Amino acid sequence: MGSRMLRGTGKRKFLRLLFLLPYALLRMAKVTYIHPDGSVKVVESENGKSVLQIALENGIPVEHACGGNGFCTTCSCDVQEGQKMIDTGVVSAVNEREENMGVEGPERRLSCQTIVHGEITVKVVEA
Ligand code: FES
Repeated sequence: MGSRMLRGTGKRKFLRLLFLLPYALLRMAKVTYIHPDGSVKVVESENGKSVLQIALENGIPVEHACGGNGFCTTCSCDVQEGQKMIDTGVVSAVNEREENMGVEGPERRLSCQTIVHGEITVKVVEA
């Protein structure tokens, strides 16, 4: 592959794919949780689980008054990095349930409705 092919956005796309390849091959998700007190915890999980599900499986406290059904907003989080690694990869795509609950993307999401497919960083929002 010549250097002419790695210019501008093409180069960025190539580097992004190269960076994401291990996660895609291993079908792994990596989530960095930043809590309101500033503490940080990084965990890995398999792809296709919600931010809330991964947190609970790893003992990370995230409020979830409705049990993860998208009806309370206590699990709100801000996706700070990796927005293309959630849901279908479409930035700002809050789902219908989030929209009905008044959640406005692209950063603010419900952690029970946000499915992870790679590496992301979320800030847990105090309810
Ligand atoms: S746990 Fe209630 S909206 Fe996510």
